[in-house]
Amino acid sequence: MGVTDVIRENWATRLGFILAAVGSAVGLGNVWRFPFQVGQEGGSAFLVMYLFFVLLIGLSAILAEFVVGRRTELNPVGALREVGGSSWRYLGGLFIVIGFVILSYYSVVAGWVLRYFVGSLTGGYFGEPEAYFVAIATGTDALLFHAIFMALVIGIVSFGVKRGIELTVKSMVPLLVVLMVVLAVYAATLPGSAEGYAYYFSPEFSVIVNDWQSIVPAAAGQAFFTLSLGMGVMITYASYLGEDRNLGFDGVTIIGLDTGIALLAGLVAFPILFAAGIGAADPGAGAIFVALAGAFSEIAYGQVLGTVFFFAFALGALTSAISLMEVVVSYAIDEHGMERRRATAVIGLGMFLLGAPVTIDLVMVDLYDILAAQILLPLGGILLVILVGWIINEEMVDELSRGIGDLGSLGVAWIWMLRVPVVLVLVVSLGLAVMGYVDFLTGPFAEFLGSTS
Ligand code: PHE
Repeated sequence: MGVTDVIRENWATRLGFILAAVGSAVGLGNVWRFPFQVGQEGGSAFLVMYLFFVLLIGLSAILAEFVVGRRTELNPVGALREVGGSSWRYLGGLFIVIGFVILSYYSVVAGWVLRYFVGSLTGGYFGEPEAYFVAIATGTDALLFHAIFMALVIGIVSFGVKRGIELTVKSMVPLLVVLMVVLAVYAATLPGSAEGYAYYFSPEFSVIVNDWQSIVPAAAGQAFFTLSLGMGVMITYASYLGEDRNLGFDGVTIIGLDTGIALLAGLVAFPILFAAGIGAADPGAGAIFVALAGAFSEIAYGQVLGTVFFFAFALGALTSAISLMEVVVSYAIDEHGMERRRATAVIGLGMFLLGAPVTIDLVMVDLYDILAAQILLPLGGILLVILVGWIINEEMVDELSRGIGDLGSLGVAWIWMLRVPVVLVLVVSLGLAVMGYVDFLTGPFAEFLGSTS
C-alpha cells in the first residue's frame, strides 16, 4: 500500500520531540478554551474535575499513543493497521478526519488572536472591547485572519519535521513559557488580584453535584483537547523518534508543563479581570477576548501587556496548529506518496474552506468545538485505549519498557488503568456529551438556523 520511497525524517534532538509535544499541547486550549470552560461550567468546580481527568486519563492515554507511534514509525493510519490489523486502519482514518475538523475552526479562533495582536499594537480595541470583538469575530475580518493563520501553518509544515516544526518549537515554546510567567507575576501585583484568585481557587462542590451532566463531558473533553489526545498527534510525533527513550518521563513532563501553563493562564486572566472590575468571564467563546481586551484598556501599561500577551498566545496556537496539520500531512505522504509541500498546501486549503463557515456566526464555533472536543476526541480515545489495553497489550507493554527497563507491576497497572477506569469514565462522558450535543442542535443551533431563513 502506498508506501513512499521518501526517507522518513526523525527529530534531530531529544529536546525537539519534547518541545514539539509540549508545543502541541499548549495552545488555544490552555488560554482560550480553558478559562472559557471554567467560566461556563461553574468556576473552580470545573477546575477540580478537569484536574481529575488529566490525572486519571492523561498519562495512560498519552503513553498509549506514544508506544503505537514509536513501534511503527508510521502515520496514524499505517500505524494502526500495523499494530491492530487492517480493520483498525479506520480508526486511523477517524483520526485524520478529526484533525481536519479541529484545525479548520482552530484556525478561525487563532485568527482572532492574530487580530488582537495587531489590535494591541494599534490600540484598536481600547475603549470598546465588546464592539471590537463583535466586529472582528465574524465576517470578512475573521475570514482574512483565518487565511493568514492557515498560511503561516502551511509555511512551517512545508519545511518538514526538523527544519519546520522542530526549529519553530525550539524558539517559540520557551519564549511562550517565559512570557506567561512574566505576565502572571505582573498580574499578581495588581490591586484586586486576591479576588481573582479567590474565584479561581475556591471550589464549590455543590456545583459539581448539581451540574455533573454538563461538567463531566466538558472536563473530559477539555482534558483530551488540551493534551492533544484522541486524534493521533502523539502517535505521529512519537513516530519520528528514532531512539528508545523513557516515554514515561516524557509523558509526565509534557502533561506537567501543559497543566502548569493552563493554571498559569488562569493566574494571568483572573487577577487582570478582577483588577479591571470585570469579574469572571461570561460564558461564551468571546469571553476571554472581550474581558482581557477590556482589562488591558484599563490598567497601567495595558497596551504593552496586551501586545506581549497576544503575541505569546499566537505562538501557542501556532505550535499546536502545526501538530494538527502534521497528522494529516504525514498520512498523505506515507499512504498516498504525496510530496510534502503539495500535500500541505492542498490540505491547508481544504481546512480553510471547512473552517470558512465558522466565520458566519459565533454559534458555529460551538457547533464545531463541542463536536470535536467532547465527542470526536473522546471517541477516538476510547477506541485506541481498547486496542492498546485489550488487544495488543503485551506488545505495547514490551514497547513501553524499551528505554525504561523492566516495568514489573507498573506495566500491568498501566494496562488495567486503560482497560477499566479510563474506558468506563470515557464511555459515560461520551454518552453525556452526545445528549448535550443533541440539546445544542435542537436548541441554540436550531434557533440560529431559524433566524437566518
Ligand atoms: N492541545 C491543543 C491546544 O490546547 C489543541 C489540539 C487538540 C492540538 C488536539 C492537537 C490535537 O490548543
